[in-house]
Amino acid sequence: MNKLLISLLVSAGFAGFAHAGGDAAAGEPLTAVCAACHGADGNAMAPNFPKLAGQGEAYLLKQMKDIKSGERKVVEMTGLLDNLSDQDMANIAAFFASKSTSLGAAKPELAELGESIYVGGIAEKGVAACAACHSPTGEGNSLAKFPKLAGQHAAYTEAQLKAFRNELRVNDPQRMMRDTASRLSDKEIEAVSSYIQGLRHAE
Ligand code: HEC
Ligand code: HEC
Repeated sequence: MNKLLISLLVSAGFAGFAHAGGDAAAGEPLTAVCAACHGADGNAMAPNFPKLAGQGEAYLLKQMKDIKSGERKVVEMTGLLDNLSDQDMANIAAFFASKSTSLGAAKPELAELGESIYVGGIAEKGVAACAACHSPTGEGNSLAKFPKLAGQHAAYTEAQLKAFRNELRVNDPQRMMRDTASRLSDKEIEAVSSYIQGLRHAE
């Protein structure tokens, strides 16, 4: 692991240390409007809508704040968060974080390439291993706001990696994801996204 990566990990870890402290029971009634796209328990059915179930609480809260302020543009959610306070959003984050992520599967023909990128990066292109930040099992690092990826819809993950690559999603601290994605080809993005969809906890 290079020095830059270590310093990024350390600074993100400290910055993310404060606990969001949401109340899941208070958040649940506020999620009725979210269910149409993200599923009542946060497991979105449509592959282009992200699963929120089991995602890190602090990451969910950061995304809601970024979407509300327009720093992350999600046209489908225009106006939906305007009347929610920071505490409401923390409560919603706690609710979705408490749910379990539904399982997915990887395409066998993409598994080898996807796994090698996820676990080891691509040394000759300077792509860091995804596992270094998102953890080997894809659980992420909740306190550091490194999102959980395991089980996420491949179509959504692919779209995010392309959005980072094209500077259409710009809310990643210190360009951590834009710098990573800018070095990935379409084929590599497809493979690693498929691998991620199949990641799950060891039983
Ligand atoms: C009309 C559909 C729709 C509705 C309703 C909706 N969302 Fe979303 N949401 C989306 C889409 C689409 C994205 C991802 C957009 C993209 O590609 O970046 C998203 C992204 C998110 C993300 C970021 C997830 C991640 O993994 O980064 C969060 C958090 C979120 N929504 C929360 C909510 C909450 C809370 C509500 C209800 C108050 C809600 N959404 C209602 C469509 C919707
Ligand atoms: C240096 C740490 C780091 C590395 C290495 C890294 N990521 Fe990330 N990743 C992040 C952070 C931080 C975010 C959250 C950005 C934000 O706050 O919006 C993120 C977000 C993402 C997202 C968006 C998740 C969502 O729910 O919207 C995807 C997809 C992703 N990373 C995939 C990858 C893949 C695939 C790799 C390897 C090729 C990788 N990441 C390597 C730190 C990293």
